[in-house]
Amino acid sequence: MNSILRSRCNFLCRSFSTTTVKQCAVPPKKPPKQFFAPITWKSMVATAVVAGGLTGFMLYVRKEKQEALDRERKRQLGKAKIGGTFELVDSEGKTVKNTDFLGKWLLIYFGFTHCPDICPDELEKLAEVVKLHDNTPSSPPLQPLFISVDPQRDTPEIVGKYCKEFSPRLLGLTGTKEQVQQACKSYRVYFSAGPQDVDNDYIVDHTIIIYLVDPDGEFVDYYGQNRNATEIYNSILVNIQKYVAGKKTSWF
Ligand SMILES: *[C@@H]1O[C@H](CO)[C@@H](O)[C@H](O)[C@H]1NC(C)=O
Repeated sequence: MNSILRSRCNFLCRSFSTTTVKQCAVPPKKPPKQFFAPITWKSMVATAVVAGGLTGFMLYVRKEKQEALDRERKRQLGKAKIGGTFELVDSEGKTVKNTDFLGKWLLIYFGFTHCPDICPDELEKLAEVVKLHDNTPSSPPLQPLFISVDPQRDTPEIVGKYCKEFSPRLLGLTGTKEQVQQACKSYRVYFSAGPQDVDNDYIVDHTIIIYLVDPDGEFVDYYGQNRNATEIYNSILVNIQKYVAGKKTSWF
């Protein structure tokens, strides 16, 4: 046994013997029964810290909730400006309304078939997005739409043929000047036909945006020319998840 252990043993033996002696000399009084821990400044501080923490947490949760509601309201306000009714004509000459697509996600691109390069690029991208979507198992129904902003030249037949070049899934729509104007107004699409050249050809200057509309017919997102197919597809996935989560927690 080394000296440290020995001295510890000595100490234990000593203290044991003192208590024994004490106990023998004066039987200790039974301490009064205590149901509650005695209030000390330590417990008060601890209680204050816990209560403060809880209050802070509750205030934080309330603030977060308020901010989420504010964000949602702002989003709704921003949303109210885009999307809405349209009544157009498909390649078979059949009237097609916005309400015909309820229950499906929509990707809408406005353009014109004489468009030299921007429209083909955007429509190829759109076709790529649709392919990515269709190759994903259990993906919800999605309808890509091409809406002509050039009703003068884009007859239903021409639009139908044009869309087939990009994707068999792409539905081409056109209409009378008034119908097209109404659709463009709904989606805040600007378009303006430029001056005609010697061959009576002209360019239509127009907004280059792909719109995403949810199955309730609400505009939810848009993608400019700078977004590639993968980025658009990933954003659609996120929007689908948000939409499904929103349906599940509609009690909120
Ligand atoms: C699309 O853009 C992302 C970055 O924004 C990039 O990582 C990705 O490689 C791009 N995909 C294609 C096919 O260009």
